[in-house]
Amino acid sequence: MTDGQERAWTDLAPRYVLHAPRDEAATSVRPGAAIDPREVWGRDAALIVEVGSGQGHAIIHAASSRPDDDFLAVEVFTAGLARTMLDAEKAAVRNLRLVEANAPEVLEHLLPPGSVDELWIFFPDPWHKNKHNKRRLVTPEFAAIAARAVTDGGVLRLATDWEQYARQMREVLDAAPEFARAFEGEWSERFAGRVLTAFERKGTRAGREIRDLAYIRRVRE
Ligand SMILES: C[S@@+](CC[C@H](N)C(=O)[O-])C[C@H]1O[C@@H](n2cnc3c(N)ncnc32)[C@H](O)[C@@H]1O
Repeated sequence: MTDGQERAWTDLAPRYVLHAPRDEAATSVRPGAAIDPREVWGRDAALIVEVGSGQGHAIIHAASSRPDDDFLAVEVFTAGLARTMLDAEKAAVRNLRLVEANAPEVLEHLLPPGSVDELWIFFPDPWHKNKHNKRRLVTPEFAAIAARAVTDGGVLRLATDWEQYARQMREVLDAAPEFARAFEGEWSERFAGRVLTAFERKGTRAGREIRDLAYIRRVRE
């Protein structure tokens, strides 16, 4: 990290970063460590969670333009979290918190069941080599974990520039009993609240098409 990013951790982390009680690994979350969102954000509001928020461009833009909603950025990349805090401070964003932890564990252990109104996964690592495909985030196991966290009628939004991964996401989520497609045709419209990030620009420049997907969390029985 640069000196500025180190300073962000010292000066801004107390305002923005949620403490996640750890299990064994440094970015793990201990089972039973659930937060109370009303206590953390100090109000009762819709909660939007972005998994793999990178430098924070999408979530800072969203948090600034939707002051009545609350936002949580989930990342394991320390320098990206520092950048996010610096930009959040510059934009005087107060409805955003960050957590440095492995996303599936955040969804399973840190967030209470049914507490998330929108879950965003934009440009997750594509792991495009065949031998690495198994490291991808969006799997049937992940769909079940996401379904636990998202509230009835809540939305799961995804975007990727890797066609094969987009197809995998669609196959996995079409098969997940807790989710229903929120689009007609092959892919979803571009989500209007998703700003252009460096990853999207890189994909487009390399000639890759961007694909969006959106799913609604079915009502629990
Ligand atoms: C390709 S980048 C995209 C970042 C951002 N969404 C964007 O569009 O610019 C994927 C991000 O996901 C983060 N990531 C990967 N696996 C993760 C996990 N298990 N938990 C939390 N973040 C993760 C990486 O650190 C990386 O910053």
